[in-house]
Amino acid sequence: MITVVGSVNLDIVGTGKTLPKAGETVTGARLARHPGGKGANQALAARRLGAEVRLIAAVGNDDMAEEALKLLRAGGVDLSATQYINGETTGVALIAVSEEGENQIVVCPGANEALDPGDVEGMDIKHMMGVLEVPAATLLAAAERTTGFIALNLAPAMPVPPTLLERASLLVVNETEAAFYGDALHAPGRYVAISLGGAGAELWKDGAKITSARPPEVHVIDTTGAGDTFSAALTVSLINGKPPEEALRYAVTAGALACTRPGAQPSLPRRAEVEALLRG
Ligand code: RIB
Repeated sequence: MITVVGSVNLDIVGTGKTLPKAGETVTGARLARHPGGKGANQALAARRLGAEVRLIAAVGNDDMAEEALKLLRAGGVDLSATQYINGETTGVALIAVSEEGENQIVVCPGANEALDPGDVEGMDIKHMMGVLEVPAATLLAAAERTTGFIALNLAPAMPVPPTLLERASLLVVNETEAAFYGDALHAPGRYVAISLGGAGAELWKDGAKITSARPPEVHVIDTTGAGDTFSAALTVSLINGKPPEEALRYAVTAGALACTRPGAQPSLPRRAEVEALLRG
């Protein structure tokens, strides 16, 4: 069982020709709403790739909560530790997507910020995945209760307690996040995965690069959720004992598939699709 400690958002998406620059208004976009949030996306991605998954999270007691949770529920993610908080709104992400599939995201965290270290008290956690869209103190409290593998996706980049990083078996970052954390990412015995967008990803261990992988060529529609898919797929593979090279290839292939469909959670691939693409 993997326990994800992370965010749930409702994604409000405008897909248009170009992304706005600062101070610019672009019009003509198509509107869509999808369940999202880096924690929820990674929980559902891991579930669709075959893992048993529980999500520790918080939503508001409002109209958006069920819409944000519906694909997790349908997908069989255990939501018994996901709570509804009175007086908070469900997290919302405002997402602009261009015709090249690139995005800009503004997150309004709402209830995600109210997920408290006390919310993991008394829980037994085997393997854990966490994202920084919930308080780092809550991730640390969960990590202290975890006996197995701990994967942290350090997104969005922000200062975190060194004691949290010390507990990680795997840190997942993109290039911007890698530059933000620098040498603090690396420690003896720890995996560090750096995703490089369309160029694939690198996997490091003990401060040295051990392997890299390029994704298959795909037609990119929307990159939202690709990083979450990569993170979840790599974690699931490493927990399943796959060799690092194989795990990284699996993760970049899963991430590429997530780019071929619109939205975060609607685009998350299933294990059979990833295996089929890997077979070519
Ligand atoms: O990683 C993509 C996710 O980031 C979106 O689903 C959005 O909710 C933001 O959290």
